[in-house]
Order: sequence, then C-alpha cells, then structure tokens
Amino acid sequence: MPIFKYFLLIFIGMIFNLPTTANTTAQVSMLVNSCVVCHGNDGSSLGPATPTIAGMRRFLFVKAMQEMKSGKRPSTVMSVIAKGYTDNDIEIMADFFSTRDIVRYPQTFDAKKAQKGKVLYEQYCKGCHNIDGRVESLSNIIAGQWIPYLRIRISEFQHTDYSSPIMTSTLEYFVQNNSEESLENLIQFYGSYQ
Ligand code: HEC
Ligand code: HEC
Repeated sequence: MPIFKYFLLIFIGMIFNLPTTANTTAQVSMLVNSCVVCHGNDGSSLGPATPTIAGMRRFLFVKAMQEMKSGKRPSTVMSVIAKGYTDNDIEIMADFFSTRDIVRYPQTFDAKKAQKGKVLYEQYCKGCHNIDGRVESLSNIIAGQWIPYLRIRISEFQHTDYSSPIMTSTLEYFVQNNSEESLENLIQFYGSYQ
C-alpha cells in the first residue's frame, strides 16, 4: 500500500488507542480479574479509596503502574501489587482498561460546597482539566472519582515527595489565594459529577 496510507493507519491507531498486540481473551481476563476485585467491574470503582481506572488513557495507565511499581508514586497497596506484573502484562491491561466505558456510581456530596467548588474550578482548574474532569492526555479522569480518593490524591501532591511540578505549584497557588479548607469545595464539586 502507498506509504502515506500506512502512516495514516498508524496515526488512526494512536488516536483510537487500538491495542498494539493481539492477546487471547483468556490471557486478558486472567490478568484483569485480579484488578476488578478492588477497581470494580471493568475498572469502574465502587469506592471509596480505590480510583476508577476505566477509560484511563493508555500511556497514563502504564506510567501510573510503572511509577507505583518503582515506588516513585506513593501508594498503599499498589506498589506491592504492581511488582507482580511484567511490562508486557501492564501493556495488555492498559489496552483493556483504557477501552472500557466509565461508570460513575452515585455518591453523597455536599451540594453547597460543590456549588462553591464550581466557581473555584472555573477559575483555577478548568484551564487544564476540562468539563469532563480530564486533562487532555495529562491525568486520569477526575470528575466522579470517589471523594475520599480525591482527598488522598490531592494531599499527595501537596505533602509527599511525588513530583508533579504542575499540580504541586497549582495547589500552592490555590491555597495562598484561598485556603486549605476551600480545597474541599473543589473535591465536592468533582465528586458531584455523576
Ligand atoms: C487490594 C485492592 C486493589 C487491587 C487488587 C488492585 N488495585 Fe489498583 N489501586 C488500588 C488503590 C487503593 C489505589 C490507589 C493507590 C494506592 O493507595 O495503592 C490503586 C491505584 C491504581 C492505579 C492508579 C490510578 C490513577 O488514577 O492514577 C492504577 C492504574 C491501578 N490501581 C491499576 C491496577 C491494576 C492493573 C490492578 C490489577 C493488576 C490493580 N490495580 C489491582 C487498589 C487495588
Ligand atoms: C496547569 C495545568 C493544571 C491545572 C491548572 C490544574 N491541574 Fe490538576 N493535573 C495537571 C496534571 C499535569 C496532572 C497529572 C499530574 C501527575 O499525575 O503527575 C494533574 C492531576 C490532577 C489530579 C490527579 C488525577 C489522577 O490522575 O488521579 C487531581 C485530583 C487534580 N489534578 C486536581 C486539580 C484541581 C482540583 C485543580 C484546580 C485547583 C487542578 N487540578 C488544576 C494539571 C493541572
């Protein structure tokens, strides 16, 4: 085929996150079955401190797994779990979870705080995290994640060595101009997205 068609196909594959390797269904289920116990059916979590990983962009999934495996990113259980998987296993699981639809289960939230959070979100977060709660290719989905998990994740950027120059400085700037407590309004806003 003409060379440009070949590149076009590769490009389309990249856009749609098409699996790069063919794996048997049995192999895929065997791998992901041990994840869905905690992460929920197809990766949509039933809470409260486990994130939804359905629909997580492929390369971010791989990055998160590798960072937790190496201990670069703080975690409670995942550093141990991730050590049990090879790079190839991680790629296979990334193909699976990145192509699942996200299901947002209802959770209780404080409507007043969420309303205040919406205003703050528009001012401080929307520039990078769009209405879908997804940074274009930069972070996992935030909107509709479990509130306790969001609290943990945000405080990791603030209070651990996990280096995210962007988020750590954004949160510092936010707290300077508002208060530590008003972060909760943002968390309630993102949690209210169902
Ligand atoms: C015992 C429960 C449990 C199991 C089993 C488990 N996870 Fe997790 N996972 C968590 C928790 C809790 C976190 C949050 C980080 C932490 O505290 O370890 C997490 C975080 C993650 C993240 C980061 C998501 C983000 O938003 O950055 C990914 C990716 C992930 N897990 C993938 C997997 C995969 C793949 C498997 C199966 C091989 C798996 N997990 C099995 C509980 C679990
Ligand atoms: C300048 C761009 C930028 C702005 C503004 C920004 N973020 Fe982020 N955010 C990022 C990037 C990049 C990441 C991924 C960081 C990482 O995982 O190392 C991220 C990650 C996150 C995560 C973790 C998601 C996951 O993968 O589990 C949360 C939660 C979050 N941001 C909340 C917020 C909130 C709340 C605001 C508003 C106060 C905000 N962000 C403003 C760029 C931004």
